[in-house]
Amino acid sequence: MKPKVLITRLLPEAALALVRQACEVQLDPDDRALSPAELRQAVADKEGIICLITDRIDASVLEAGPRLKVVANVAVGYDNIDVAAATRRGIVVTNTPGVLTETTADLAWGLLLSVARRIPEGDRFVRAGQWTEWKLMLMLGHDVYGQTLGIVGLGRIGQAVARRARGFGMTVLYHNRRRVSPALEAELGATWVELPTLLQRSDFVSLHVPLTAETTHLIGEAELRLMRPTAYLINTARGAVVDEAALIRALQEGWIAGAALDVFAHEPEVPEALTQLDNVVLTPHIGSASVATRTRMAVMAAQNLVAALRGERPPHVVNPEVYDRA
Ligand code: NAP
Ligand code: GLV
Repeated sequence: MKPKVLITRLLPEAALALVRQACEVQLDPDDRALSPAELRQAVADKEGIICLITDRIDASVLEAGPRLKVVANVAVGYDNIDVAAATRRGIVVTNTPGVLTETTADLAWGLLLSVARRIPEGDRFVRAGQWTEWKLMLMLGHDVYGQTLGIVGLGRIGQAVARRARGFGMTVLYHNRRRVSPALEAELGATWVELPTLLQRSDFVSLHVPLTAETTHLIGEAELRLMRPTAYLINTARGAVVDEAALIRALQEGWIAGAALDVFAHEPEVPEALTQLDNVVLTPHIGSASVATRTRMAVMAAQNLVAALRGERPPHVVNPEVYDRA
């Protein structure tokens, strides 16, 4: 008999076909988000889940699925899953690293250019019929070329952002808990500095850390006050890495020049104050949203799930302790 699995939301056909070959699938064809109670009910007889970052897979959901063997997230970040609780229950958790790196770096770069050169603002201006004449002083932004970029979290995506910075002749600073190898630093032209130094010296600060207990509100009032009044903050990591209330004050009071945000603390809610500000660019968590990348992510999650249910070790396990213990 095929193992029963829950797929919480509609996926590209290539991924669904992979799972259907090996599993009996429960999938809501209406592509509706399940409530926590519905999630608990749906996992009662399941051996695996494919879920999205919008599904909160907490200890209560894991407990409600006594047969669960694997939770496969269609994302590289997995802060929506209680990994410690899964590990205690011997449930493998998997993610989709690598396949979305370049696509997300492209979006970070698009946001950086958009906010510095006021591209969405210019678009709104033209569409509103406000452009009546060319003026030397119209809609002046800030240069990107030759400026200093500070990357917080020089992992896969942070490195891809750093590579793009070379084409813009930028000085690249970065901060990680551990320095990357000297060879990689040389290849990227990136210099490790403490976080306060990065904030003080950068014209653009781009965030690429995972959301963990340590990175929650990593950028709060004190950090924003260290940034230059001409600097921009770009966040394609997770909303809660930044203290949103402090960021709003920073933008309203001019501690920094602007922000471009793809992620928010309580998605899909976006604080109204942010929507009122012209020096802010907002996108709906679309870092990895290209057809090819979202398909690759879904297929990778399907491969992770099927491997685990076949008793094999999936390629992208985030809690290897489950195997080390066995
Ligand atoms: P990654 O390769 O694991 O890189 C994460 C980097 O963050 C590492 O270099 C790590 O270095 C650093 N880091 C972790 N904790 C830190 C801390 N407390 N202080 C400073 N640096 C820290 O991950 P990735 O693939 O680049 O993805 C990064 C994150 O981007 C994901 O977790 C996800 O939340 C987000 N993301 C968002 C989108 C989107 O649609 N907007 C798309 C993809 C990913 P050390 O361990 O040495 O500190
Ligand atoms: C998206 O936010 C991801 O973590 O893949």
